[in-house]
Amino acid sequence: MENFTYYNPTRLHFGKGQILKLEQELTHYGKNVLLVYGSGSIFKNGVYDDVYKVLSDAGANIVELGGVEPNPRVDTAEKGIRICRDTSIDFILAVGGGSVIDCVKLIAAGAKTDASAWDIVTRKAKVRDALPFGVVLTLAATGSEMNSGSVITNWETKEKYGWGSSKTFPQFAILDPAYTFSVPKDQTIYGIVDSMSHVLEHYFHEADHTEFQDRMCEGLLLTIMEAAPDVLKNPENYDARATLMYGSTMALNGMLNMGYRGDWATHNLEHAVSAVHDIPHGGGLAILFPRWMRHYVHEDVQRFRKLATRVFNVNTTGLSDLEVAMKGIEKLEAFWESIGAPTHLATYQIDDSTLNIIVDRAMRQGDFGNFATVTASDAEAIFKAAL
Ligand code: NZQ
Ligand code: ZN
Repeated sequence: MENFTYYNPTRLHFGKGQILKLEQELTHYGKNVLLVYGSGSIFKNGVYDDVYKVLSDAGANIVELGGVEPNPRVDTAEKGIRICRDTSIDFILAVGGGSVIDCVKLIAAGAKTDASAWDIVTRKAKVRDALPFGVVLTLAATGSEMNSGSVITNWETKEKYGWGSSKTFPQFAILDPAYTFSVPKDQTIYGIVDSMSHVLEHYFHEADHTEFQDRMCEGLLLTIMEAAPDVLKNPENYDARATLMYGSTMALNGMLNMGYRGDWATHNLEHAVSAVHDIPHGGGLAILFPRWMRHYVHEDVQRFRKLATRVFNVNTTGLSDLEVAMKGIEKLEAFWESIGAPTHLATYQIDDSTLNIIVDRAMRQGDFGNFATVTASDAEAIFKAAL
């Protein structure tokens, strides 16, 4: 097994009513708080009122920045950075899903440097410091609540990239599954696909002696797949929502992949599609992941076979290893289709007229993928198969 060092500084408060922990958390910071949220869901489901009450009780001076877009824009982060500078913000609170959290990470880092926000995203500027920030999570999906990564879109140039820094872990994250009762069906589905995709990105690696990590990945996939239909049948099923929330956080907080890096090519491919067409991340992944798998199944048939037998319970009788592997991919695709995830890019009115620009965006930072290398011609073939 490879050596590793694991450190995750984010304190997790999980469960019903955990918003009350916010008051204690706030005692570590100054009183000027920037409260950041999205397009208004927190006003409808009561989360804003809960948060506002705790902040007021704690005597915070609250400045608000709403309107963070799904697939958050660099300009919105710039707005937040200006507020931090102009009003001496001490602490930032992200209330929302991955988009709000990712935007806050960029605000937090951008507030501590003269470099432009986009230079941080494109890694031209190094992050040396960041304002402290916390999270009240409202959507189970990205894992951003307990990791240091952030994904930001530049809508003018149609680029979307991930970046991160050891300085951009949230100080704490409050995860109340009841806050996700109001997540609409489509976003719930995207969240399920995204968290499963994070596990799959880890699962496809080239490291040896990862039996424990592989089993954790398999267990997480099975657990999410068990809870998914329950949540879709009854969006207020607390235990099933809790399973998805816990699972999606664990899927991308470094717990699953100690000692190795997963593949991450499919995420890169999806970010390129989102950059050009502004589609939901989980929707894009549901379409692209099976295509990536078929494109690279020959890279390591045994790994695909392992997934097929252990997670998708494929009956191996009379089948070659490759046939078993392919059946596993079919079953993954069928599961996502069964919960209502999209299967083709045409769902988002994407056809081959923008293929060149999508491939260009995917390749901007060179060939990619740790399990298998994606070149421009591979990317084009995968996108074509997804149309
Ligand atoms: O904007 P509001 O009003 O909050 O509504 C949001 C938004 O419309 C809504 N929503 C969230 N919580 C809700 C709710 N609606 C009703 N009730 C609630 N409780 O859901 C919509 C989508 O929200 P968003 O935050 O965009 O979704 P998600 O959490 O899936 O985040 C997606 C973004 O995260 C990036 C993606 O690329 C995308 O930009 N990712 C970030 C990662 C990370 N930082 O680690 C990793 C991921 O792989 C991913 O790339
Ligand atoms: Zn993702």
